[in-house]
Amino acid sequence: MLSLTLTGLKLKNPLMLAAGIMGTTGGSLKRVAESGAGAVVTKSVGAAPKPGHPNPTMVEVDCGYLNAMGLPNPSYKDFQEEIDIAKEAGTPVIASIFGGEPDEFVEVACGLCPDAFELNVSCPHAHGYGTEVGTDPVLVEEITKAVKSAVEVPVWVKLTPNVTDITGIGLAAQQGGADAVVAINTVRGMAIDVESGYPILGNKFGGLSGCAIKPVAIKCVYDLFKTLDIPVIGVGGISDFRDVIEFVMAGAKAVEIGSAVGNNINIFNEISSCMEAFLEEKEWTLNDIYGMAHEV
Ligand code: FUM
Repeated sequence: MLSLTLTGLKLKNPLMLAAGIMGTTGGSLKRVAESGAGAVVTKSVGAAPKPGHPNPTMVEVDCGYLNAMGLPNPSYKDFQEEIDIAKEAGTPVIASIFGGEPDEFVEVACGLCPDAFELNVSCPHAHGYGTEVGTDPVLVEEITKAVKSAVEVPVWVKLTPNVTDITGIGLAAQQGGADAVVAINTVRGMAIDVESGYPILGNKFGGLSGCAIKPVAIKCVYDLFKTLDIPVIGVGGISDFRDVIEFVMAGAKAVEIGSAVGNNINIFNEISSCMEAFLEEKEWTLNDIYGMAHEV
């Protein structure tokens, strides 16, 4: 009832693990896949090993989390082993990759064999990467085009909400040949310890995830659905089945779940069951509610 085809990939449900959570090892990705996810996205990997920002890199705030991990990763070079382990679950594995310019993205993409790529042009706090390239539509189009012509699997582009109008960047990705866009990455934010006056995160500022950003993500998905011809994948603040229904009504073909997985790895199975019961009671299919909020 919830199965779908997304950019040519067969998914048993539209609920995917978002990049950055339990995505560093093949073992944890496989565990999430075996816990009911329709697909899993790896932690972002780049061309060279990167230690990330100094601690603290994550703090819980009202309605979510602030993180400034700084794209720590071992590089793509030994990462295919992790992807192969994750693939043992029989669920699509999406590699999240980053770079500072088209050739760096292509180097990483050509060193991996996932079921699809997600281009991270949206991490809000990594110098030379993420939003520093992903807020420039010309660069987003060039990067997308370069990766698209170097690989044979679908290419998704994960967008930042830290722009005035996300649709301009979405259009650039589409123009570059993206098979889908993913909206949204975290919203830039900061927290200060009032006892000392110090910014809490080692990097001083970071990206906000969790319930607080859901309305921001819904608006971005709504605008992208209206503007683009390619599928939009929704992410940001999903913690229960009603959140997923809302994203699909806004125009998300599928969704990714991040922060909420940290508290409950069974969230994929739980949301699937609740969605099926809800749709059955309403006598709707997933397709019936896809973009429904645009019909009014
Ligand atoms: O620092 C990080 O690994 C976060 C990446 C992101 O927000 O895309």
